[in-house]
Amino acid sequence: MPQITEDYIRSLLSRISYPGFNHDIVTFGIISNINIQDSRITIDLKFNTKNAETKATVKQEIQDLMKAELPERRVMVMEGIPTMAMPGQNAKPNDPWAGRAPIPGIKSVLAVASGKGGVGKSTVSTNLAIALSQEGLKVGLMDSDIYGPSVDIMMGIHDKPMVNQDQKLLPLEKYDIKMMSMGFILDKDTPVVWRGPMVIKAVDQFLKDVAWGELDVLVIDLPPGTGDVQLSLVQKTPITGAVVVTTPQEVSLVDARRGYQMFKKLNTPTFGILENMSFYPNAATGEPVYIFGKGGGPKAAFELGVPFLGEIPIDPEIAEGGDTGVPIVAKNPDSEATKAFREIAKELLAQGLLERVGR
Ligand SMILES: Nc1ncnc2c1ncn2[C@@H]1O[C@H](COP(=O)(O)OP(=O)(O)OP(=O)(O)O)[C@@H](O)[C@H]1O
Ligand SMILES: [Mg+2]
Repeated sequence: MPQITEDYIRSLLSRISYPGFNHDIVTFGIISNINIQDSRITIDLKFNTKNAETKATVKQEIQDLMKAELPERRVMVMEGIPTMAMPGQNAKPNDPWAGRAPIPGIKSVLAVASGKGGVGKSTVSTNLAIALSQEGLKVGLMDSDIYGPSVDIMMGIHDKPMVNQDQKLLPLEKYDIKMMSMGFILDKDTPVVWRGPMVIKAVDQFLKDVAWGELDVLVIDLPPGTGDVQLSLVQKTPITGAVVVTTPQEVSLVDARRGYQMFKKLNTPTFGILENMSFYPNAATGEPVYIFGKGGGPKAAFELGVPFLGEIPIDPEIAEGGDTGVPIVAKNPDSEATKAFREIAKELLAQGLLERVGR
C-alpha cells in the first residue's frame, strides 16, 4: 500500500476525466486543495463552471474512486467559490475558459513567461513582438511586470500615455508595436510597494483599460516566477498560448518546468520552450561555444512534451539594445539573434498562433 500523500491522491484523481473533455480533472486545475488528517481526507474543488450536472458528476466519480481505492478513509469532497467567474461572456457552461473573456479586438494573446527571473523574458517579449510585426501582424505588447517594468527602457519610450474620452489608456507606439507598461506611468524612483491583491487588480484593470484597438496578437511580458500574481493573471487572461523562456543552467531549467506546470494546471497551452543565452560564437572561428552545456532546453521540452522553439545566442548587442531602447531585431537584421527571433516568430505562426484563437 503506498503512503497516502497529497501526491498519491492527486495521482488517483488524475484517472478521472473532466466531463466532455479529454483532460483529467487534475490537469483541468479544479483540485484546489487536498487535506489529509488521520483517516479523513478533504478534497477541495474549484469549478470554473456553473453547470450543476458537471459538478455532481465529478463529485460522484471522486467519491466512487476513493471508496474503491481507500475504503478505510472518510473522504469529503468540498466545493469552493468559483474563481474564474466573470460577467459578460457567452462561454459554454463547462468551458475551462469561462472566466477568460476575450479582449475585444484582439485575436490572440501570447504570454512570455519564465519560472526564474532575469532569464530574458523582456528581451524575448520585445524582440519577438517586433519579429511578429515584421511578419505582417498588428502587434501589441503589454508589460505586466508591475514591480520591475522594463519594456519602456527596452523599447526606448519616455512619454506618458494619454487617456481617451472613454477613460482608457492609449498605448504608445514604436517599431509598429502598440505598447503599455507600468514603466510609462510610474516615476523611476517611486517604490512599488503594492501588495499581491492590489497588483493583481492593477494588472487586470490595466489589461481592460487600454484602448488596444484591433490587434492580431498581444504579447504579454509576465512577471518572473509562478506565484499568485502570475497565477491570477494567467487565470484571468484569454491566453492563446505561452512561451516559456529558460537559460541553459539547471536552476533555470527546473524553474522552466515549474512554469510549464503552472500553465498546464490552468489549462493554458504552451507553445514551447525557448532557450536564451544558449551559446556565444567563438571570436576567431564563429563556432558556437556552449558555456553552460548544450541541449538542456531541448531536453526539458522533450520531457514536457512541448516543442523546442529555438536558441538565442549570447550577444552583447542584445544587452546594449536593451539599454539603449533599440531591440536587436529592429537594429540589426543580419545578426544571428535576429534570425533566431524571426524563426521563432514564424514557428509560432506555423503552430497556429492566429488560428487557435481563445483556446
Ligand atoms: N541573449 C542575450 N545576450 C546578451 N544579453 C542578454 C541576452 N538576453 C538577455 N540579456 C540581458 O540580460 C538581462 C536580463 O534580461 P531581461 O531583462 O530580458 O530578463 P527578464 O527575464 O525579463 O528579467 P526579469 O525577471 O527581471 O523581468 C538584460 O540586461 C538583458 O539585456
Ligand atoms: Mg523582465
